[in-house]
Amino acid sequence: MKVLVVGSGGREHALAWKLLQSNQVEKVFCTPGNGGTAVLKNCENISIEVDDFESILKLIQANSIELVVVGPELPLSLGISDYLQSHNIKVFGPNQQGATIEASKSWAKDLMIEGGIPTAKSATFTDKQEAKNYIRQQGAPIVVKADGLAAGKGVVVAMDEEEALNAVEELFTQNFDKLVIEEFLTGQEVSILALTDGVTIRPLIPSQDHKQIGEGDTGANTGGMGVYAPTPIVDSILLDRITKEILEPTLHTLQKRGIDYRGVLYAGLMITPEGEPKTLEFNCRFGDPETQAVLPMLKTSLVDILLACTQQKLADLPPFEWHDGSAVCVVMAAGGYPASYEKGKVITGIADAEALGATVFHAGTKLLGDDIVTDGGRVLGVTCISEDFKSSIEATYNAVQKIHFENMYYRRDIGHRIKN
Ligand code: AMP
Ligand code: GLY
Repeated sequence: MKVLVVGSGGREHALAWKLLQSNQVEKVFCTPGNGGTAVLKNCENISIEVDDFESILKLIQANSIELVVVGPELPLSLGISDYLQSHNIKVFGPNQQGATIEASKSWAKDLMIEGGIPTAKSATFTDKQEAKNYIRQQGAPIVVKADGLAAGKGVVVAMDEEEALNAVEELFTQNFDKLVIEEFLTGQEVSILALTDGVTIRPLIPSQDHKQIGEGDTGANTGGMGVYAPTPIVDSILLDRITKEILEPTLHTLQKRGIDYRGVLYAGLMITPEGEPKTLEFNCRFGDPETQAVLPMLKTSLVDILLACTQQKLADLPPFEWHDGSAVCVVMAAGGYPASYEKGKVITGIADAEALGATVFHAGTKLLGDDIVTDGGRVLGVTCISEDFKSSIEATYNAVQKIHFENMYYRRDIGHRIKN
């Protein structure tokens, strides 16, 4: 069968790569894809933007594509699944209503309260002055969240009151008309990517991202600078609790609202110092770079799982199987990211890294003649699997050191929270 992957990041390269490992998948198309999917065997990039639904439909019909896997949140929140499903196409990814769980923080918060899902105490404001009064009442530290898709830039974790008040001022002037203000939580953040067919929900292995640009978790927030999976922070007992107390009640509350949610439910959780899981956010898609560490660990055929989700047959599948050991992914970024950075730098050494056993997932890259050049902030995600966490870290950094492009930057401390 032929499959279409919508998107152009490292996550989409990992999806295309994993789908092509299934015997049934003869070809994957990517719209628009990147330098990695351009050179991946049996994969073809088609230059169509993720929100050009009509062109995507034409491509699907002209090539008899049987399954569409949507990577990013933007097309989901614009209703790509509703549009393609109305033309009888199987789509892995929730409909527009379901995608609101990521697109609106206040909607997601209401859903959590309705479903009794553990989360930080919060209040929602449309009035600037009331928001500021609330902050003065509650004091700092406190978290201010814009109520809309903001590409990771809509959340301010304010350590003092003034910073929180400034964040309110700033976000209201940036065209957001609603804010969620939330209790500050401490602990360890984990990402749980769960797959659902609207009735059954199953978590993949838990992972931990490193969101900040600087070593020791300092500096600006990014899309994610590195990840490992499975994280020992979430053992099987805690994962069961998360499934019963967070994932299943969330799905039931979506059902109660009449939403048939088929795709990824990504729960961003804080595990408090007392070991309690609390929900920071939900996303309606695979995580990036979580996917680049989680999928290489998956033994079960990905296309079987995704098809079962679109057909509401997830309960019929045996438990997912996983490789032993752990996976580590280090993101290599363009110097300057997440602020301004240059593009068009020639990347060398990818084949040398692969010769050491690494899988190099491309994110912001493109094929230019015979060269792979940088074309975004997060450029590559280098993943290695090894028998234990420590050797995976070592193997990944050995592979990273083979790769070069001008002004490259990567964190040298991925995995620093786990010392063994
Ligand atoms: P979100 O998009 O809601 O996950 O927020 C982005 C980041 O802000 C998270 O990954 C956390 O690092 C941080 N964050 C969000 N909510 C809280 C909270 N209630 N307490 C502490 N940190 C938070
Ligand atoms: N790595 C964080 C995210 O995908 O939102």
